[in-house]
Amino acid sequence: MQRLTLSLLSLIFLLATSLAPFRPAVGQQAHPLDPREKMVTGQDAAAPPRRQSVKPGINDSFTNPELKVEEFIQRFEIESREIYDLRQEILERCRIQVGERIADVGAGTGLFTRQFCKAVGNEGWVFAVDIAPRFIEHINRQADLHGLRNVTGVICREDSVALPPDSVDVVFICDTYHHFEYPADTMASIHSALRVGGRMYLIDFERDPGVSREWILDHVRAGKAEVIRELESFGFEVVEELKINRMEDNYMLHLRKRPSSTNN
Ligand SMILES: C[S@@+](CC[C@H](N)C(=O)[O-])C[C@H]1O[C@@H](n2cnc3c(N)ncnc32)[C@H](O)[C@@H]1O
Repeated sequence: MQRLTLSLLSLIFLLATSLAPFRPAVGQQAHPLDPREKMVTGQDAAAPPRRQSVKPGINDSFTNPELKVEEFIQRFEIESREIYDLRQEILERCRIQVGERIADVGAGTGLFTRQFCKAVGNEGWVFAVDIAPRFIEHINRQADLHGLRNVTGVICREDSVALPPDSVDVVFICDTYHHFEYPADTMASIHSALRVGGRMYLIDFERDPGVSREWILDHVRAGKAEVIRELESFGFEVVEELKINRMEDNYMLHLRKRPSSTNN
């Protein structure tokens, strides 16, 4: 009888463990944003943003349901784009550690998401965050194709990255800050999502009236000094500017958050 009970218990244990769903380790703990979800839509996505857009219309091409991802791959993933040409150097400057949780905010076609997935390994996780559903669907398809199991696509709101508090070690924002239409709100959500002691990397266009091309002056609303002033007012501070050889059109900042009483 005792042996029968033991066998039954072993059988139940075996069944329970083999049927347990895939549960990747993220920093040894279950992640509040369940990584088993392939795609997450920011909660209350239908709620209208609260403030006036600082650059109305700048994201129209990205949020267009007819967006052709291929056309953007040809624009974003081409050697003549400085960011693409220097992608390896940029990745190195981020000093990504195995096991880290990264938010690639404004992930676009997934250029950096793919690199981060490899850099963080099976113990880490990447959240590809974007307002453009077509980009997130593309990133998920690519992840399936290449067997990347450590990425979650997040379709976020225009005024929030829709990540839980303290959920990431690193926030990466490339060529995207000038696309934020509600920078104060989006940055508040990033401030909350980034853990204390975490790192934020921001790459954006140099904007220098009298020097920069007309297109930059028109498309990019703020230059580096102004961006830094804004980020400081949103509770971040610059650790250092990261210099990369041959980087001329863009700058790269390493920032951290100043803890605030509301978030910590
Ligand atoms: C110029 S693309 C850069 C894509 C990618 N980071 C790269 O460098 O290849 C800007 C991206 O930011 C996204 N974006 C714009 N506003 C955003 C917001 N408030 N939150 C998240 N993503 C946003 C756009 O949909 C677009 O994919």
